[in-house]
Amino acid sequence: MAVIENSKVTVVGAGSVGSSTAYAALIRGSARHVALYDIATEKAEAEVLDLAHGTQFTGTSDIIGGSDISVVEGSHVVVITAGAKQKPGQTRIELAGVNAGIMKSMMPQLLEVAPNAVYVIVTNPCDVLTALALEQTGLPPERLFASGTVLDTSRLRWKLAERAGVSTSNVHAYIAGEHGDTEFALWSKATIGTVPILDWVTPRGDKMSVEELDQIAIDVRDAAYKVIQGKGATNYAIGLSSARIIEAILGDEHAVMPVSPVLQDFQGVSGMALSVPCIVSATGAEPIRETTFSPQELELFHHSAAELHKVADSLRG
Ligand code: LAC
Repeated sequence: MAVIENSKVTVVGAGSVGSSTAYAALIRGSARHVALYDIATEKAEAEVLDLAHGTQFTGTSDIIGGSDISVVEGSHVVVITAGAKQKPGQTRIELAGVNAGIMKSMMPQLLEVAPNAVYVIVTNPCDVLTALALEQTGLPPERLFASGTVLDTSRLRWKLAERAGVSTSNVHAYIAGEHGDTEFALWSKATIGTVPILDWVTPRGDKMSVEELDQIAIDVRDAAYKVIQGKGATNYAIGLSSARIIEAILGDEHAVMPVSPVLQDFQGVSGMALSVPCIVSATGAEPIRETTFSPQELELFHHSAAELHKVADSLRG
């Protein structure tokens, strides 16, 4: 599948999100070589062993890893999942202080061994951490971005597909903005096949109302809270989302995905990472500048940006 020969991805952080990302990448064949890096030696080595023990049943991808930074060497993509995770009821933003500190100490070490990689930040709050990491590293903005609302968009498509009675791949709808409490759906552009979402007749014979769609967007926004309440973390869907992003980069796919690069002059937003439809390829993520918002969506987009700027400002101190 991968276009880059001998493609290598390193997943940083061997917690439930990192391990699930490595697992999904192995099963999907997202990269020829998958590495898992974590400063916790025993944990990293145990996860790598467990994954390696299953490689008879995956494709040609192999897995290495451990706590020596040299495992990151030669990576084309580095996915960062390390850091504190949300406790039940906690917001992603509440993790900002502790995870910004972790990112700050980690980025120079990673860049030293993988200076040319594309960096994907999954650690939350992923948008704010991306903005700070870009300032710190001076990387070109396309080469460092957050996984953003790729997962939220998948959650949205799952819900809409079920209601509309079609495959998730025929639901063309996006969540944009923060990966978190101020995110919003781009309803003005949502279609099932070519049919505007409000015109679609469901298997029940009715159409979806604006109120119903609003409720679906709220459920999507709050989905992680529900999963964390029940099992303490989210891991499988974010692992799959991350594997999918890895493939789009290594396969030079030019896939349209709502990842979150730091925006410049995008619909009035600059200097903050926010999810908008982007082209994801071997060079990284480029926002699609022709994207337009309805007046209400634009307001929500600016609200997302303002909230995240506040958080980033407080961390810059
Ligand atoms: C979630 C975490 C990854 O939304 O933020 O599941």
